[in-house]
Amino acid sequence: MKQNKPLTAWVNGRFVPLDEATVHIEDRGFQFADGVYEVIACFSGTFLDLDAHLKRLQRSCDAIAIVLPRPLKELESLIQQSYALNPFDHAMIYVQITRGVAPRSHLVKEQLQPTLVITVRELPEPEEHKLAHGASGITRPDLRWKRCDIKSIALLASVLGKQEAESHGVDETFWLDEQGHLLEGCATNCFAIIDHKLVTHPLDHQVLGGITRKMLLRLAHAHELQVEERPWKLSETGLTECMMTSTTNAVMPVCQMNGVAIGNGAPGSVTMQLRQWMLDEFEALKG
Ligand code: PDD
Repeated sequence: MKQNKPLTAWVNGRFVPLDEATVHIEDRGFQFADGVYEVIACFSGTFLDLDAHLKRLQRSCDAIAIVLPRPLKELESLIQQSYALNPFDHAMIYVQITRGVAPRSHLVKEQLQPTLVITVRELPEPEEHKLAHGASGITRPDLRWKRCDIKSIALLASVLGKQEAESHGVDETFWLDEQGHLLEGCATNCFAIIDHKLVTHPLDHQVLGGITRKMLLRLAHAHELQVEERPWKLSETGLTECMMTSTTNAVMPVCQMNGVAIGNGAPGSVTMQLRQWMLDEFEALKG
């Protein structure tokens, strides 16, 4: 079903037309980026790993001491209602929770009513030429804070990274730690195939525990592809392929980094096999 009606958003405890959806100018999300978010995919009414997204939302809230505005079950129901009001074939549901509204002061002593916003947009199809030829990236020293495991709405470094990627005509900026290890992209986790193994940075404060990352590792294990969660570098011998994952990309081959081809410069066979396994799983979920 294609969405022709005006979009509807959840804000301040009710559904309203997106054009009329507003938050207070003293919302701490607006003034301090004091909040967390989730981006969830939904295909023909089937949510991808909604449970995992809700759990991560809970973890992010816990990590910054925001009390969930509603129990998880109610949040789940609101997300489902939001989708029902904006039923794109391929939808992307954005859920944001901020600490709430208060006169501007870094420290808030009282418990505020958190602000909950839910919007739904069409999930863009991956560009055909990118799938056929692979995405490209640049690497930069990580500019971000030291709690990248929290899905914080404070995304300035990621915005700058994306802008820099755009200005270089590439798709993503990948962050490097001080030793030059690949951490993740601005809005993606990243992986390499090194000596036929799937390699990705281990989960710590420097990377987000991506839901798609977890799905990819599970699929790799299920198909007996060896997995190594360890720091890795682009310069490693035996590196033949790179890929990135996210809710919005599933698995996307990355074939050029800093202007240099990775492997033979074309999407790798292991990457495309992993992508296919993931798409098969999405199809199976749809039933
Ligand atoms: N970003 N790493 C970062 C820094 C991210 O922002 C994201 C997702 C991911 C991938 O996570 P997941 O597989 O759970 O989508 C990794 C979302 C899509 C965004 O900000 O739009």
